[in-house]
Amino acid sequence: MRLDKFICKSTELARTEATAVLHSGKVLVNGEVIKDEATQVHENNRITLSGKLLTARASRYIMIHKPLDTVCSNVDDVYPSLLNHVDIDKSRDLHFVGRLDADTTGLVFVTDDGRWSYNITTPKKQCAKVYRVNLRDTVAEDVTIKFLHGVQLQGEASLTLPAVLEIVNPREVLLTITEGKFHQVKRMFAAIGNRVEGLHREKIGDVSLDVDIGSWRFLTESEIQSFKNEA
Ligand code: URA
Repeated sequence: MRLDKFICKSTELARTEATAVLHSGKVLVNGEVIKDEATQVHENNRITLSGKLLTARASRYIMIHKPLDTVCSNVDDVYPSLLNHVDIDKSRDLHFVGRLDADTTGLVFVTDDGRWSYNITTPKKQCAKVYRVNLRDTVAEDVTIKFLHGVQLQGEASLTLPAVLEIVNPREVLLTITEGKFHQVKRMFAAIGNRVEGLHREKIGDVSLDVDIGSWRFLTESEIQSFKNEA
């Protein structure tokens, strides 16, 4: 991680304060004064501030059950941030791992570990996300095949990656996708002439939503590890 971020994670300093102590020459990495805040540091580096050894706080990994009319961003002109539901210290240091629309409910992860969230959001890692979808019109059987082969979304250069559709009843389906294009589920159904009227994310990878609406919990060690090991 960057040296200024490491200082924030190991002290109570804000990013601008961390930059200031770096520029003043008070930070040593393996005995050498480092003033460049962008320097990359690793767990095994010995980093001191005014002679005091710094240790980074452990990263945090959280699931939240997103209610309607909240947003997965820190600020919004219309809706409150979903982070308002996470009553822990320094919640503003957390970022959303993939976003849901304001009118979508369900499973959202937040963390301060950027490498971990990358494993979940990059299409390269094929991390499955399962959505329960309520539709305006009944869904035809052949949509299963269409989604498996990929559909063309407006404005996209390539077809969607193979997606698995399970029909629960004529107007309710479970859809599993491994990428996260903007409004992807709504646009996939728009591409076949249907319309999403309700959208809820139930599962990411092997982790299913199991907290009440508006509540959150820390992920278990095995849940956290399951994404570190994503192929
Ligand atoms: N796809 C959408 O269209 N919206 C979401 O919130 C998530 C996936």
